[in-house]
Amino acid sequence: SPKGPFRNEPFTNFHDHANAHAMKEALVRVGDMLGHEYELVIGGERLRTAEKIRSVNPARPAQVVGVHQKAGAEHVEQTMQAALAAFEHWQYVAAEERAALLLKAAEIIRERKFEFCAWLTYEVGKNWAEADADVAETIDFLEFYAREALRLAAATTPIQYPGEKNELLYLPLGVGAVIPPWNFPFAIMAGMTAAAIVTGNTVVLKPSSDSPTIAARFVDVLEEAGMPPGVVNFCPGSGATFGNAVVEHPKTRFIAFTGSKQVGLEIHERAAKTQPGQIWIKRTVLEMGGKDAIIVSADADLDQAVEGVVSSAFGFSGQKCSACSRAIVEEPLYDVFVERVRERVAAIKVGDPVENFGMGPVVNRGALETILGYIDTGKREGRLIAGGKKIETAEHGYYIEPTVFADVDPQARISQEEIFGPVLAISKARDFDHALEIVNGTEYGLTGALYTADAEKQRQARLKYHVGNLYFNRKCTGAMVGAHPFGGFNMSGTDSKAGGPDYLLLFTQAKSVATRL
Ligand code: SER
Repeated sequence: SPKGPFRNEPFTNFHDHANAHAMKEALVRVGDMLGHEYELVIGGERLRTAEKIRSVNPARPAQVVGVHQKAGAEHVEQTMQAALAAFEHWQYVAAEERAALLLKAAEIIRERKFEFCAWLTYEVGKNWAEADADVAETIDFLEFYAREALRLAAATTPIQYPGEKNELLYLPLGVGAVIPPWNFPFAIMAGMTAAAIVTGNTVVLKPSSDSPTIAARFVDVLEEAGMPPGVVNFCPGSGATFGNAVVEHPKTRFIAFTGSKQVGLEIHERAAKTQPGQIWIKRTVLEMGGKDAIIVSADADLDQAVEGVVSSAFGFSGQKCSACSRAIVEEPLYDVFVERVRERVAAIKVGDPVENFGMGPVVNRGALETILGYIDTGKREGRLIAGGKKIETAEHGYYIEPTVFADVDPQARISQEEIFGPVLAISKARDFDHALEIVNGTEYGLTGALYTADAEKQRQARLKYHVGNLYFNRKCTGAMVGAHPFGGFNMSGTDSKAGGPDYLLLFTQAKSVATRL
C-alpha cells in the first residue's frame, strides 16, 4: 500500500556535482545500450516482424536509439485476443493488488532515474532538466493513480436510502487502445497506461514511432513489477494500419490518445462508427493541441513575465501542447517587453542535449520542415526579432534557432495554427479586455497564463480566459500531477484532466448496487 499521502517527486538539482556526475555516467551506460532490438510483446510473448521501425537521436540522426518491430494489420486480432483473455482475470483482481503494481513500478523507476533520463535525452532530445521532469511526472502518475484507484474502490453513494445498503462500484471498461505522443514519451505514455490498468482494463499500447524505446523500457519495468501477461501489450506500428485497425475493432472499448488535433479528430470519427458485432459506444479520451498564450498586463513584473514567456515558449524547443506560442502584451509595456524578450532569447544556447544545452533539436526531419515552413510564413506575417534559421551541425541534428516574431496580427496563421516548435508570436493588445479577446480567439483552449498583480484582472480571467489550465504569474508549461489537473477546452481535447481526481473515472463505468436490508 502507498507510503503516506501523495507528494510530487522532487526534481533533480543538476548543479549538485553528484547528480551531474550520475547523469553523465547514465549517459555513458545508456550510450552503450543504443541500437538494441526490441520485440513486440503480445500476451507476454516476444515477437519479431519483417519490417522494422528505427528510432534515432534527433541531435545526431545517424545514431539509432532502438530498433523496433512494426505491428501491422495482421497482428491486430492476435493482440486483441491476448488483451481480452487477460481482461478475463485482471478485471477481478483487487484494487490493492493493481495499485501495488503501479507503486512497485514507481519504485523501480525512482531507483534508476538517471538511466531513464538518459533514454529520454537520446531518444527525443530532452536536456537534463526536461528529461528529469518527464521521469518525475511518470513517477507522479504511478503514485497518484495508485492512490486514486484505492479511493475509487472505497467510494460509496452520497446517500444511504433508508432500509437499504447502497454501493457504487467503479468497474473497468474492457480492452483499450493507448496511443501516446513522443513529446512526453515516458510520462504521458505511462500515465495513460497506468490509469487504464489500475482500474482493471487491459491495454494495447502503440507508442509513437519517434519514441518506442522508452515505452519498451516501461513495459519491461511493468513486467519486473509483476504485471501478468496480456495486461499491457506492446505494439509499435504504423498508425494507418495497426493503429486504425485497433481503434476500429469491435472489441475495443476505449481509446486514450494524446497527440495532434488532426489524428485525434480522425480517431474520434473512426471510434464513433459502430462495427458489426459491437455492443457498446466506444469511449475516447483525446488530448490534442494548443495555441497557448500568455497575457502580459501593463502592471506585470517585467523580469518574471519575460522569463515565464521565454521558458514556456522554448523549453524542449516549444514541443509541448502547453507551450506558449503567443505573448499578448498590453500597449504600455509592449516595446520594452519585445526588447527584453529579444535579449533573453539571444542568450539561449542551442546544442546537443547530451551536453545539457538550454535548447536542443526538434524531434525529426518532418517537424523540422514544418516548423521552417511556419517561420517563412512568419516572415511575411510579422517582424522577425530573433532566430529564424535552421542551425547546421556536423551531425546533421534537427536544430532550429529560437525564433520570435513581433507585431503579429492575432488572426495571422502563426497566431492561429499550432506550430509545435520554437516559434513565438508577440501581439499588442490595446487593453486587458482586448487581450482576453485575443487569447480566446483561436480554436484551442489548453493552457494560458496572465502576468498581473491586479485582483480584478485575475477575477475576470478566472471567468473569461477560456482554457483548461490557467496560471497567474508563472509559466504555462510544467503542470504538476495532483496540483494542476491537465487538459483543455475546444479543439484542445476532451478536457480529461490527467493527474486530477476525475481522470480515473474516464477508464471506468459506475454500477449502483442496492441491497434491501
Ligand atoms: N503536462 C505538460 C505541461 O504542462 C504538457 O503535456 O507542460
